[in-house]
Amino acid sequence: MSEVQTLDTHDLEQRVREMYREVAEEPFKEFHFETGGALAKRLGYPSDELDAIPDEAIDSFAGVGYYFDLARVQPGETVVDLGSGSGMDSFLAARKVGETGRVVGIDMTEAQLTKARRLADEDGFANVEFVDARIEQLPLADGSADIVISNGVINLAPDKTLVFAEAARVLRPGGRLALADIVTSVQLPVGVTCDAALWAACIGGAMQRDDYREAIEAAGFELDDLKENEQYRFVSKRADNATQKYGVKSVSLLASKR
Ligand SMILES: C[S@@+](CC[C@H](N)C(=O)[O-])C[C@H]1O[C@@H](n2cnc3c(N)ncnc32)[C@H](O)[C@@H]1O
Repeated sequence: MSEVQTLDTHDLEQRVREMYREVAEEPFKEFHFETGGALAKRLGYPSDELDAIPDEAIDSFAGVGYYFDLARVQPGETVVDLGSGSGMDSFLAARKVGETGRVVGIDMTEAQLTKARRLADEDGFANVEFVDARIEQLPLADGSADIVISNGVINLAPDKTLVFAEAARVLRPGGRLALADIVTSVQLPVGVTCDAALWAACIGGAMQRDDYREAIEAAGFELDDLKENEQYRFVSKRADNATQKYGVKSVSLLASKR
C-alpha cells in the first residue's frame, strides 16, 4: 500500500508563526531568505521613501518584490496589507494615503503585530492599524477597501483560493490587488509541498505560475500587469536547490476587481 503524504496544516501554521516571530525579534539572524534594508533597496524600494519610515520595520522586511510602482497608491485611499509583518509596506502605504487615507495591516503572528504597533505609536502613524487575523478570513466589510497589497505572504497560505476570494470581497468594484509573491515554473512535487520547513521558507507553498494567475482571475480579478523580480534570490543551499530545480521565482503583479 502506498503511503499518501499530506501537509499537516496545523504544524505548518506553528512553523510559520515561529519563523516570523524570529524575523520580528531577531531580524539579523540567518534565514533561508534575505531580510532587511539592503534587500528592499535591491528589489527597487526608493531610499528616500525608506528613510521616512521606522528603521526597525525595514530590518524585519521579509518581502520578495517591489510592487508600489504598479499599485500607484493615492491620497485618501483605504489599503489592506495581507501579512503585514513588522509593517514596512504598511508604513510606506500610510505615507502615500496621507491623513485622509487609512491602512489596515493583517497578520497572525503576535510578535510581528506587537512590533508593528509599537513602531506606529513611536513614530506617530495615526492612519495605520495592525489587526490580528488570518488572511483567509478578513475582519473587514465587503467593498470597504480601494486596494489590497501583500508581499511574500500568499505562498504561505494552504488555501490560496480563499485568500483571493477574501481580497475580492473586501475590495470595492474597480479596486486593485497589488502584490509580490513566489511562484514556480512547474508544479512542485509532493515531497516539497509536504515539507513544512520549506513551506515556511516561502518555497513549499508556491503555486505554479499559470495556476496562480488563474486563481486570481477565478476570484473575479482581471490581471493588468505581471513582472518577474530577477533581483530576488533565496540564500540557503537547500532553498537554492529547490529554486533551480522547479523554477521558483518572485513576481509582482497588479489586478483589478471586475
Ligand atoms: C514573509 S513574511 C512577509 C511580511 C511582510 N509582508 C514583509 O514584506 O516583510 C510573511 C508574514 O505573513 C504572515 N502570515 C502568514 N500566513 C498568514 C495567514 N494565513 N494569515 C495572516 N498572516 C499570515 C506571517 O506571520 C508573516 O508576518
